[in-house]
Amino acid sequence: MQKDRGQWSSTLGFVLAAAGSAIGLGNIWRFPYVTGTNGGAAFVIIYLACVVFICLPFLLAELVLGRHTQRNPVGAIAAIKKGRAWTLVGGLGVFTGVCILSYYSVIAGWAFGYIFKTILAPAMPHADFASSPLIVLPLFAVFIVLTILVVVGGVRHGIERWAKVLMPVLLLLMVVLIIRGMTLPGAKQGLEFLFKPDFSAVNATVIMAALGHAFFSLSLGMGAIITYGSYLPKNVNLWVAGGSVALFDTLIALMAGLMIFPAVFATGRSPASGPPLVFEVLPAVFAEMPLGMVVAVVFFILLSIAALTSTVSLLEVVTSYFVDERRWTRTKSVWVVGAFCFVIGLPSALSQGASETLGGMSLFGNTSFLFIMDFIWGNLSLAIGALLLCIFVGWVWGIRSAGKELGQGSDLGPWAVRTWGFFIRWVCPVLIFLVLLNLFNVFGD
Ligand code: PFF
Repeated sequence: MQKDRGQWSSTLGFVLAAAGSAIGLGNIWRFPYVTGTNGGAAFVIIYLACVVFICLPFLLAELVLGRHTQRNPVGAIAAIKKGRAWTLVGGLGVFTGVCILSYYSVIAGWAFGYIFKTILAPAMPHADFASSPLIVLPLFAVFIVLTILVVVGGVRHGIERWAKVLMPVLLLLMVVLIIRGMTLPGAKQGLEFLFKPDFSAVNATVIMAALGHAFFSLSLGMGAIITYGSYLPKNVNLWVAGGSVALFDTLIALMAGLMIFPAVFATGRSPASGPPLVFEVLPAVFAEMPLGMVVAVVFFILLSIAALTSTVSLLEVVTSYFVDERRWTRTKSVWVVGAFCFVIGLPSALSQGASETLGGMSLFGNTSFLFIMDFIWGNLSLAIGALLLCIFVGWVWGIRSAGKELGQGSDLGPWAVRTWGFFIRWVCPVLIFLVLLNLFNVFGD
């Protein structure tokens, strides 16, 4: 094995690290506000369907590709099929990783900063906080440096060791906050909003939001799972490992909903407040609770932990590319990429000048640079990357070879691999393609 690569110590080590990547701001910050702005339960159901029918088979495809080739996304594709065009698909993944990391760390920096803001300046409005460069830029820098420090430690002694400590803490903190939320008077309304669907408001944008969010939430479509899969030993059962990650991530998203919506309704606020939902509405909700400040501090520690295990995976994708393909040392890769992400993240960090830019999610109308980045890289690019990777695994590499890798370490019969192959060749690409066409209004309204 090449120096500066690495391997997970066990299936559990992998599952916690990959769940650490999957579970992040996407579950706790993005899922509630996207659910809120897209009408609640109907969105949740479409999102769950995307997870089961599209993302789960696709997650296995990324794992198979990673473990088989033991490479980063670019190297993995090149190892199977030489040629510039397909290598570019891997390149798109790595580039998407850089772009997501650049704006994701800005929001992660807010979450980290809110731990202190809650105590030091509870009355400061979110818009003032997010639009102040002297607050936002140092937080952004600190978060990138924290990420660098974990990734520099390598796969087993950095990422896996931290995930094993941080993920259980996160779970425990969430359970405490859910119990608090469920005992509030708005619990019933919150549950209804989350689980009682009204499909009348579903349109192309809602469906794209659900699919894009499912990819984002599971860290799919840009090679993070290829990269984490590349550190897997051959005896690991990929069905179990992949299935556990998907289950864990979905559970945490629903738990975040349970944690947030009862509190929102209990205090008569709107669930459709958009991106500031957890930063603006929740602190206000917490302030009205007994022990509110403690709960708020706990919540933002939790959000920061979840974000850190995700930024780590984003940085790892790009690092593994430079380690594998360019023969850089891990230390050099991590610092150079981290610094680069900071620079290209500056427009996102500085884009929250006016409070009204925060609310709108319309495509280019009232949306700030940060959310345009989120739509392009955190939504569209992931779906396009996933579509191309499905075609690559299903048609270029072929189900027979990919299926052999999937079968290793598992005792499921050939029917399982065959079903998976059908999904990767037909169901996933066709559905993703239709959703993308639909977004560009091909089928009309
Ligand atoms: N899945 C992460 C979240 O839900 O916050 C975000 C993410 C991490 C997306 C890593 C993509 C990725 F490669």
